[in-house]
Formats: sequence, structure tokens, C-alpha cells
Amino acid sequence: MKITFSDLALPTSGAVIAFATEGADLMPSAVALDEAMGGTITKAIKSSTFKGKSGQSLQILAPANVDLSRVIVFGIGKEAEFDVIAAQKLGGTVTTRAISTGEKDLSVLFDMDGLACDFATGAMLRDYRFDKYRTTETKDDKPVLKALSIAARDHKDAKKQFDSAKKVVEGVFFTRDLVSEPANVLYPESFMKEVSALEKLGVEIDVLDEKEMKKLGMGALLGVAMGSAQKPYMVVMRWNGGKKKDAPVAFVGKGVTFDTGGISIKPAAGMEDMKFDMGGAGVVSGLMKALAGRKAKCNVVGVIGLVENMPSSTAQRPGDVVTSMSGQTIEVINTDAEGRLVLCDALTYVQEKHDPRLIVDLATLTGAVIIALGHENAGLFSNNDDLSQQITTAGLSVDETVWRLPLGAGYDKQIKSDIADMKNVGGRAAGSITAAQFLKRFITKDRPWAHLDIAATAWSTSDKEVTPKGATGFGVRLLDRFVADNYEA
Ligand code: BES
Ligand code: MN
Ligand code: ZN
Repeated sequence: MKITFSDLALPTSGAVIAFATEGADLMPSAVALDEAMGGTITKAIKSSTFKGKSGQSLQILAPANVDLSRVIVFGIGKEAEFDVIAAQKLGGTVTTRAISTGEKDLSVLFDMDGLACDFATGAMLRDYRFDKYRTTETKDDKPVLKALSIAARDHKDAKKQFDSAKKVVEGVFFTRDLVSEPANVLYPESFMKEVSALEKLGVEIDVLDEKEMKKLGMGALLGVAMGSAQKPYMVVMRWNGGKKKDAPVAFVGKGVTFDTGGISIKPAAGMEDMKFDMGGAGVVSGLMKALAGRKAKCNVVGVIGLVENMPSSTAQRPGDVVTSMSGQTIEVINTDAEGRLVLCDALTYVQEKHDPRLIVDLATLTGAVIIALGHENAGLFSNNDDLSQQITTAGLSVDETVWRLPLGAGYDKQIKSDIADMKNVGGRAAGSITAAQFLKRFITKDRPWAHLDIAATAWSTSDKEVTPKGATGFGVRLLDRFVADNYEA
């Protein structure tokens, strides 16, 4: 879909979107359109239940005296409550609604000053479809909107803003593409190759293969990889958009391209979902694309640990003891608690090599976070109140919300091992917290660190305003905003 901006004027062809506030009061340009159509809109409103409430819409097929095909009036609710998030959601809602009519070209009469870019962003976010494997679908079957033209008074500012916002959406799409791919196509090596394409945008890429990881002593990550014929990789992405001397902000992602559970194998039902167990790494990759795409003025390093967790005769066993890169030893009680084993070595690596000013890691880490928070919030854990606040605030600004859960020394007893420094599971109680408490042991020097458990938010089983069902890309917009608001000059 091509999105353009133009001056606020009545369109002369195609389908038109206009708006009304609560009470079915038409916005000024909708009034002008109504006049041009001889009062057809007001007449249609009078004979309907349309009240201009947010979520309501009213469709009018254009009368013969105008060249338009149809007009759809959308309610925006109370104008004073129509904010950035509402504008994004409206953009998404209008887009799906328009696609369902079969119209290919849309003009939007957008009177809500200052929000046209957000409307466009929502429209673009919603207009995503992962359909590369649908070979029998004809061109006509494909729901597509070719062009969206947004007419707004502040169209010049909106266009400028959107040039940057679009780059972030492209980052979200990169994440959604990676997360949507099945695990026979996206495995550690192919993931690594996909990410290497970011070099074109000026991202420096370093790839650690199995041999190098062995040399570095990443026994925890390598233990997970042992059961798979697919070779593990760690990919380091650097975006140097800030001052040379500034320590980078680090993002670390869990990239388990498929999680069978290993020898502690998962039940068959629903196991296919575990192709999205690389969601954290997907977000870090999409975020790097977004930051590089919009040329963020910040130094950022992204590290992803890529492995496949399989059962086989070479797989690690419950009871095995592995030595992490930090030197700490771990008793692997359950091979299905593999994410923390991958992350701990990535966390040590990024601290030893890049000495970042802070670290945010993302992982589809625990089923328990779904039980705790449902699908409405990601779990946030942090050793630092300021960092925690920055992430929470950024989440609210982009409607990718997080909810902080506690850490605490009391939870340490749950991961105490009789044979090693710790074990990799802490029992059923507080499963997401003990996982985070495990990760915290790999953070040195009280470095500000936050962990986002995105197990419940990386994938959606239903359509949302700006997110079609499937891979959400949750975290890319959140962390892009977090960087923009706090770490750019
Ligand atoms: N990848 C899973 C967590 C997960 C579950 C993500 C559902 C998305 C949806 C993780 O590796 C895992 O298996 N965790 C176990 C931990 C347990 C063995 C302590 C879990 O949550 O059951
Ligand atoms: Mn697992
Ligand atoms: Zn997993």
C-alpha cells in the first residue's frame, strides 16, 4: 500500500473516508463533502444508528451526481479524547474496513491536526500479511489496498514525520516476517543470513560460530544446541549513530528457532507455536532495522543467540551440568528451560565485549507469564527503577504495554542446586520471576538491566486494530520509542 499526504481538499474520485465525532457531528471536511453530495451523508446518518462513537462506521454508496464510488464515515468518539493511540487504531480500523469493501484507492479527509502521521502509521501496521506460502490464492483473492491518500492541513509535517515512522514500521515488518517463518525455513544459519542483510543499512554485523563460542566458553548456550543438527550462531549487530565515546545501549534476544523442549519434550498439542520462540531475537533484529533505517542518533548493540532445541542422542540430558561463559555452573534440571541458558551467555558476552551503559533483553521465556498477565502486557523485570520507568512509559506511548513484576533474593532459594551454582528451573511457583532471577545472576557491576518476557505478546491469535493475527512485532515500537525518548542527542 502506497501512503501519500496531500492538502485538505475534496477528492474527485474513488472511495472517501470522512469522520464524525460523538453525537454524529461531522468534521468540517465531512460537512463540505456532505454539501457536495447534496446532504446524502446527513440523510444517511439520520436513518441509521450511527452516533459517531469510536468503532462505529456508516457506509454510503455515492449518488450518481458525484464521481466518487463510496463514502465511509467513521466515528472518532469525543474529539478531546482522540489522541495518538486512537489515531493509530483508527488508521488500522479504516484500512481493514476499506480492504473488505474491495476498494483499491482510498482518500481520507483528515481534520484532526497533528495526528495524520499516527493515522498513517496505524494503517501501515495493519496492512501486513504473511502470504508467501499461499500458492493457490489468485490475485483477486488477495485483500489489497493499493493507495491511501491522506488529506490533512498539516500534510507537510505529517509527511516528514511519516518518513521516519515508516522506517520503524519496516522494522516491525522485519520482525513479523522472521517470527512468521516456519522453523524448517528459519533456523539459526538462515536467521543469521537474513539478519546479515542489515549491513546494507550501515549496521555492522559480527557472526560467532560454534567454534568461536566454544573458545569463549559459552557452555550454557552450546548445551542447548547439542541436540540439533543445525549449527548455533550468535549474531552481534552494531549501529553507531551516536558519539564515538558513548557506551552503547544493548539489546539481547532469545533466538530459539524451534523449541521442542529437548529431552524434557513438550506435549504435541500446540508445539507448532514454538516456531515463535525466536521472538526476542526477532524483535532485536527488527529494532536494529528501525534504528538504522531512521538513522537514530545513538550507539546501539544488538546480540541474538540462535539455537534450535531438539531431542536426540546428542542432546543434553536432565541433570547435566554446564559451565556458562561467566564461569558460573548450571545444573540443567529441565531441558525445556533453555531460553535462560541461551540468554545468560549472550548477556555475559555483550557485557565483556561492549561494556554497555544498560541492557534490555527480550525473550519468549516462560509460559507462566501468560498465566500471570494474560496477553495484554509483557512482563518487565529490572534491577533499576529509572530504566523500568523509561520502558513502562515508552510502552504506554506506543500501546505496547508492560507490567513490572518483582525480583528478590528470596526467590534465589528456588534455583539453588545441590551440585552446581544454580539449577535452571525453580518449580511451578513464580515461574517467570525465578527465570528473571536466574538471568540477573549474569548481570555484572549492578549495570542497569531489564528483562521483557514476551511469551504472551509476541504472537496474537486474533486481529487487533494495528496488528493482524499472527506475529505482532511487539517490542520494536516500544524500544524504538525508549531509545528516541531517552538516549538520542
Ligand atoms: N519457550 C518456552 C516458553 C513459552 C511458552 C513461550 C509458551 C511462548 C509460549 C520456554 O522455553 C519454556 O519451555 N519454558 C518452560 C519453563 C519451565 C520448564 C520451567 C515453561 O514455561 O513451561
Ligand atoms: Mn522451552
Ligand atoms: Zn523456549
